[in-house]
Amino acid sequence: MERRSFFHLALHAIWIGILGWLSVRLLRGMGITIRRQLRKIAIGRVEALRALQEGTIITIGRQLYFIAWETEEPYALLLRCTHGNCSVQRNNLTGEFVCPCHGGVFNSRGEVVQGPPTQPLPRIPLRIEKGVVYLIDQV
Ligand code: FES
Repeated sequence: MERRSFFHLALHAIWIGILGWLSVRLLRGMGITIRRQLRKIAIGRVEALRALQEGTIITIGRQLYFIAWETEEPYALLLRCTHGNCSVQRNNLTGEFVCPCHGGVFNSRGEVVQGPPTQPLPRIPLRIEKGVVYLIDQV
C-alpha cells in the first residue's frame, strides 16, 4: 500500500469515527437511547438448581456467575470485583468470595465484607419459565 493511500484510508477511518460519535451524541440529545440487546440463557431446571444448597458457579462465555437461592427466589451474582474488575474466587470453607487483586471480600449474597470495594457484586436478573431458570444479561 502506498503511503498516500494509507493516509487517505486513515483519514476516512477518523472521519467515520467522528461521525459515529457525533451521531450517538445527537441521538442522546434528542432523548433517543441506544438499548443494548438482552440475551436469555437457560441455566438449568429449578429442581436441579435448588438441590445445590451451597449454590453453584457457572460459566457463560468468559463470565463467571454464582447462582443461589434466597427463600423461594433464585439470584445470580456476576463474579467480577466492583473495585477493579478482577474475577473473585470462592472460599469453599466460608462461602465468601475473595478478590485476589487487593483482598476485597464479599459474602454469598454479594455484599461487601471487607474493602477496598464499596459496592456489592452485580446481581443479574433471573427468570423462571416452565420450570427452567433463565439468566437475563446484556450482550
Ligand atoms: S480489584 Fe478487587 S479488591 Fe481491588
